[in-house]
Amino acid sequence: MKIATIVGARPQFVKAAVVTQALKAQGNADEILIHTGQHYDAAMSDIFFEQLDLPEPSYNLGIGSGPHGAQTGRMLEATEAVLLQEKPDLVLVYGDTNSTLAGALAAAKLGLPLAHVEAGLRSYQRAMPEEINRLLTDQVSDLLFAPTDQAVRNLEREGIAADKIRLVGDVMFDAALHYVGRAEAGALLNAHGLREKQFALATIHRAENTDDPVRLKAIVEALCSASRQLPILLPLHPRTRSALARAGLLEQLESRVTCITPLSYLDMLAMEQAAAVVVTDSGGVQKEAFFFGVPCLILRDRTEWRELVESGWAVLCEPEGLAEALRHPPRADEAPGLFGGGKAAELIAKALLQSALSA
Ligand code: UD1
Repeated sequence: MKIATIVGARPQFVKAAVVTQALKAQGNADEILIHTGQHYDAAMSDIFFEQLDLPEPSYNLGIGSGPHGAQTGRMLEATEAVLLQEKPDLVLVYGDTNSTLAGALAAAKLGLPLAHVEAGLRSYQRAMPEEINRLLTDQVSDLLFAPTDQAVRNLEREGIAADKIRLVGDVMFDAALHYVGRAEAGALLNAHGLREKQFALATIHRAENTDDPVRLKAIVEALCSASRQLPILLPLHPRTRSALARAGLLEQLESRVTCITPLSYLDMLAMEQAAAVVVTDSGGVQKEAFFFGVPCLILRDRTEWRELVESGWAVLCEPEGLAEALRHPPRADEAPGLFGGGKAAELIAKALLQSALSA
């Protein structure tokens, strides 16, 4: 069975790594990896391939950045050409980025069977580019791998046939369990003069937070003021760094908050575990905080991972409420097993290989 896996952005490298390993362990699959090039900096891409033992992509389409339509369109065109040449039995896409949507459309238009990992997530905010990518990808997928019960319910409500949906758990939970043993915080804590459980780890990159200078200014002010209670370490996504520079806010932020370049996957796992609290607008980071029982303040007004808020380990937080939320971070008695048993990748690999048998 020939599977074409399409990745492009940082979180997809993590998700694909565990499924690629599971496919290898099961044998019988010939997987080709297509990297759209959406993320291209060494710190956003290469280091992930190295740390996650991902094979070199068979194709790097080198698409890079751009407005949504242009970026997605260029990816669609280039992905279609590769799929026509490779003629895979199935196309596999992950998550909710523009690379996901481009891969899904390319497969659907060629009539190739399509599987979507992390299906059924909904924030119910169409203004988020990721929400559009999720909705459309799920509509054209033949096999939908849902990470949670809630995701299954969301898909059923949209009329997706039950026999296409598989509840498998979350591949990011598999990855966290698999790689956490290799993560070590000591050197980074020392380098930045931080002590375990005495700092907040923050990440911000979502378009709704970075693209509006008024909102971005409110976030900078909130972080600066919160840093009087607790030191803050902020690995800066390139999107955020350039938005801050454009808005003339970088200097103000750096005067109070330790801003560093993006962390590798292993360093990120280590620092999430070491933090007293995580402040983020990232879907993946809010889940990783939960995996490690670290309270999380989600800098958004909604989340596609509602379970995290319902569990009591995370709260949605506006910039104005950040300092107060840091004084009383959410904390529940225990972290319930919401994301499966750490076997999502294995279940996905089995289902993919079975789909080949029944085709
Ligand atoms: C994308 C995803 C988002 C995901 C995130 C993970 C979409 C719509 N969004 O957002 O869901 O959470 O990846 O990081 O697909 N840039 C660089 N170097 C890079 C990559 C990006 O400098 O390696 C800069 C460019 O200036 C670019 C900007 O970051 O314009 C945005 O990059 P893009 O890939 O469009 O979206 P992300 O914000 O990374």
